[in-house]
Amino acid sequence: MNEHDMEKMACLLSSKGMDRTQDVNSADVVIVNTCCIREKAEQKFYSLMGRLKKIKRRKGLVLGVTGCIAQQEKDAIGEKLPFIDFSLGPSSIHRVAEAVDHASRKDRFFDFSDNGCTASLLVEPGNANKKFKTYVTIMKGCNNFCSYCIVPYVRGREVSRESSDIMREIENLSTLGIKEVTLLGQNVNSYNKGGDDISFPELLKGINAINGIERIRFVTSHPRDLSNELIECFGSLNKLCESIHLPFQSGSDRVLKLMNRGYTTEEYRKKVSLLRQRCADIAITADCIVGFPGESEDDFELTMGLVNDVRFDGLFSFAYSPRKFTAAANLPDEVSREMAFERLTRLQKYQKSITLECNKAMEGKVAEVLVEDRSKHSREEMTGRTRTNKIVNFQGSSDMIGSLVEVEIVKGYANSLKGEVRKPTGGRTC
Ligand code: 5AD
Ligand code: SF4
Repeated sequence: MNEHDMEKMACLLSSKGMDRTQDVNSADVVIVNTCCIREKAEQKFYSLMGRLKKIKRRKGLVLGVTGCIAQQEKDAIGEKLPFIDFSLGPSSIHRVAEAVDHASRKDRFFDFSDNGCTASLLVEPGNANKKFKTYVTIMKGCNNFCSYCIVPYVRGREVSRESSDIMREIENLSTLGIKEVTLLGQNVNSYNKGGDDISFPELLKGINAINGIERIRFVTSHPRDLSNELIECFGSLNKLCESIHLPFQSGSDRVLKLMNRGYTTEEYRKKVSLLRQRCADIAITADCIVGFPGESEDDFELTMGLVNDVRFDGLFSFAYSPRKFTAAANLPDEVSREMAFERLTRLQKYQKSITLECNKAMEGKVAEVLVEDRSKHSREEMTGRTRTNKIVNFQGSSDMIGSLVEVEIVKGYANSLKGEVRKPTGGRTC
């Protein structure tokens, strides 16, 4: 989401004649787009701002802060960081060109407008990066209020985009050479929940019919909103890739209740089993938090048990981090940081062995790969992703970039696969 917000801002600024650079020393305008989901991201932000303050003093530049930390600190950010020139909350990024314009005239600019504002959703960056895959925002915000999570407070309530706008944007992207779209939303599968526009599965069906689009993905899904109709799509829509990110957060029902997640582990396991019945090769990844207040060793063992049983292709696991505004910040029985990190290390080590096992199971299989770029590791190798979202490196040439090729997997590693090209493909493999 944050990466895509940056693309939107870059697109808005390029229409005002500015070029994007990653090099702070050559930039006239620096925008720090922020995330406050965990404390670590916030700490990194403040140390980065310390460094940027010195650069600004040395060479002079327009410095702006956008995103979730800006929203969280909206009443204080101008005073806390007196050297910044503008700041925008996530719902105000469509005003970035205006903000830079004001700031260039030494007129500080701040906007943390109403979270229900849809203008930021409507910015369409097109195919500015001349790539073959891109993100499309279809909804924003979250109504779930998981007890640990700051997102509903900084990104606001759920707002879905009109399906006709989404379809038009994707049709346009296909004419610009995009082959793969990832539909984005904090709670993507509750798209238009309770609204009178089409449902999420109906939207997927519509996108599946767009010529030129070969692959569809979506993130992030809430297990409770994973309907049977949506599960069915994995069997019936040929462009919907066989991969889903389905955070479970904890393997203990007691902790899930404290987290206000709205499902039990039995319900979660049932959904995983339905997904695999409908689509045997589906790759499942998830998020999980350890060290939530009150998490006992037994609760943690239940998380390890779920990970053992489901055998996720990949897992993003985090130590619980108390967040401002959230209900969990006031819960008793804090787990010590040492204990949380010890559990996290155990979990990550175990998951690493499972991911390796999943990747090794691919050896000898043929997979469709969308070729993305040259590999960073070798001049002769190209890199791309399978429909199951696994990175594959293989011998090839740069004229393959943007095409779909059939690759035989010859080796599975912990973070990637090694393959050998068979032939170009148009059809569906695993
Ligand atoms: N502490 C730790 N992890 C968190 N996440 C969200 N809030 C917190 C928090 N307070 C994790 C969840 C979520 C992912 C994006 O970040 O696992 O799915
Ligand atoms: Fe946060 Fe996701 Fe829960 Fe929404 S569903 S509150 S974004 S963890």
